[in-house]
Amino acid sequence: MPDPRIDIHLQPDHAATALAADARTGLTSSPKTLPPKWFYDARGSELFEEITTLDEYYPTRCERAILRARAADIATTTGANTLVELGSGSSEKTRLLLDALREAGTLEQIVTLDVSETALRAAAADLAAEYPAARVEGAVGDFTEHLPLLPGDPTRLVAFLGGTIGNFLPAERDLFLRTVRDMLKPGEWLLLGTDLVKDRATLEAAYDDARGVTAEFNRNVLHVLNRELGATFDTDAFAHGSHWDEEHEWVEMRLRALSAQTVRVPALDLTVEFAEGEQMRTEISAKFRRDGVERELGAAGFALSQWWTDPEGRYALSLAHAE
Ligand code: SAH
Ligand code: TRP
Repeated sequence: MPDPRIDIHLQPDHAATALAADARTGLTSSPKTLPPKWFYDARGSELFEEITTLDEYYPTRCERAILRARAADIATTTGANTLVELGSGSSEKTRLLLDALREAGTLEQIVTLDVSETALRAAAADLAAEYPAARVEGAVGDFTEHLPLLPGDPTRLVAFLGGTIGNFLPAERDLFLRTVRDMLKPGEWLLLGTDLVKDRATLEAAYDDARGVTAEFNRNVLHVLNRELGATFDTDAFAHGSHWDEEHEWVEMRLRALSAQTVRVPALDLTVEFAEGEQMRTEISAKFRRDGVERELGAAGFALSQWWTDPEGRYALSLAHAE
């Protein structure tokens, strides 16, 4: 079986330089923040996979159910030859799409992009074994920087699943959608997974599970700072929390200092003070409504072709084509 081709777009010192810049900006702003892509080192990717199996974390189950019901439809509507998956992680649900494209007889090429090298390599190797008739090309890179470098022959279907679009701020989201649009020719396709607005209790529980897996995932970003920048975070001194912000319609993930903390970050020559109870935002996960998704897709040059939800209307998949 052919090995997948893997392109590495991140510089070898990526963690040191890009993380250092992000950490300096975030830790010196008020309130303090940290950018989310740094959750996903090898351990972070493992913890995320565990999150997808939690009772409280419904998005993965909902998205899988929609894909199961609609994959054949997606394959015949798009006639795609190439599936391009952004932020692919384990590509677990993606197999439903790939099976449908193979069944329809159009699948030729699979392109996956993820910032987590361990997750990307493992998934690309598995896909190459499971879809031996397709060319598998993995890319380790950042979907906010490296989309123009991705291979892929028309007709392409770009899949952006897992509600990951919700992890952007609105302006970043707009820029991202336009950049995806720019990589496509008119008539090519985007399949977008979005979690939907719902009651506070369900949303907050999805990001704060009883077993504490999400808490561990959130605190993992502190382990990354300790390892990569020599920071001295006492990870047990920070508590995880999730908060539904009704005005912005996003869930905020936070780390709260349980007592006053002084943290050294030698690589930045920086000392950071946390007051007792001070909260640091580590991630947002925006929740959507149909009209907003349609409007944002339209503004970026996509026309919505199909909108599907699970029976309970918790989660949506949008199929759109580039205009
Ligand atoms: N698509 C999978 C994983 C979603 S979790 C699913 O639906 O279950 C988000 C994924 O995006 C992770 O695999 C993470 O490593 C990746 N990711 C996060 N920020 C990224 C970035 N800036 N560029 C590329 N990949 C990123
Ligand atoms: N894209 C996922 C989401 O917003 C990422 C995620 C799930 C996440 N659980 C998390 C990010 C907990 C930070 C903390 O649903």
